[in-house]
Amino acid sequence: MANKNLIWCDKALLEKDLSGKAYVVTGANSGVGLETTRQLVKQGGHVIMACRRPDAAAEVAKEFVGLAGTVDILRCDLADLDSVRAFAEAFHAKYEVIDGLMCNAGMVNMDSKPAFTKDGFELTIGISYFGHFLLTELLLDALKKSPDGRYGILSSVVHAGSPKNRYQVHLDDLNFERRDYSNFGAYGEAKVATTLYALELADRLQGSNVTTASIHPGWARSNFGKGGPAWMRAAMFLMKPILPFVSDSSWESAQTSMHVLLSEDARNHSGAYFSQYSFLYQDKECRKGGWPMESPNPHARDLKAAKALVAKSRELVGLS
Ligand SMILES: NC(=O)c1ccc[n+]([C@@H]2O[C@H](COP(=O)([O-])OP(=O)(O)OC[C@H]3O[C@@H](n4cnc5c(N)ncnc54)[C@H](OP(=O)(O)O)[C@@H]3O)[C@@H](O)[C@H]2O)c1
Repeated sequence: MANKNLIWCDKALLEKDLSGKAYVVTGANSGVGLETTRQLVKQGGHVIMACRRPDAAAEVAKEFVGLAGTVDILRCDLADLDSVRAFAEAFHAKYEVIDGLMCNAGMVNMDSKPAFTKDGFELTIGISYFGHFLLTELLLDALKKSPDGRYGILSSVVHAGSPKNRYQVHLDDLNFERRDYSNFGAYGEAKVATTLYALELADRLQGSNVTTASIHPGWARSNFGKGGPAWMRAAMFLMKPILPFVSDSSWESAQTSMHVLLSEDARNHSGAYFSQYSFLYQDKECRKGGWPMESPNPHARDLKAAKALVAKSRELVGLS
């Protein structure tokens, strides 16, 4: 039983020898990040697992024994910019070049009230976007040193919103002080931010060896949203019989990340949005996804908004 609509990464790419290549994957201990890491290690790559719980990463890394590649585990809590800076420092003490940076980690605040990171960002955008923003900026020179640097950041179908309600990043009220809070609305905005960041980076890095992308991985049966409210657990229980037909295993959901990291064609589409099939798109014509596809949300394709977001982000994380 599988989702027949899935888009698969080219088999030959998944057999390519990656020995000598180094990758950083955030949230590498679970779900899509874990399967992306496992595949890179299988192919002989070295993966720096950037995880907020190194013990959890060490536990799953036991599964990699006997595979061709290797891993290193470095702590990185994206909800704490000091932890991101400490990660970058530890990284630079050991490594000079990375061939791929997959900003995979993410979560949705399951509370109906906003929660905040250590540095005062609304939690969902703080982790998915601001933590990754600082991490990326601090690692960018190492990525530029690769002859074929690949950058991916996880977005979501949710960023698309609906024709009546397209999410956008509210730079003037990032913490919902003057708006009603909706946790899934905050998730949608956070994923508009990650989509815009891939676009801005591609523009800034024109002429370099780095290719960027934002990614919707599909509906992954990972640990995402576990521990959510009772209504959500009940809905998931009721959907159980149809889930295998409309959702994907974490390995299936890692296909888009692998394509972005390894395919030649991804280099022709730097900055684009790569989406797995998803029946969750409210714009029905988007459901088949595409590598790449045009986001139906104009706010996620707006380079001017992306530049404004990055300028503000530099200020907020203390880079300017
Ligand atoms: N699942 C889906 O259907 C779906 C759909 C669209 C997009 N996505 C996106 O895909 C990405 C991967 O999600 P998943 O489905 O694989 O979920 P998952 O199994 O819950 O994995 C999420 C990963 O993010 C890490 N993370 C959470 N907060 C963090 C923090 N403060 N610092 C560092 N790492 C943190 C988690 O670490 P811990 O284990 O320590 O919590 C975990 O490793 C996310 O960006 C998500 O938004 C998922």
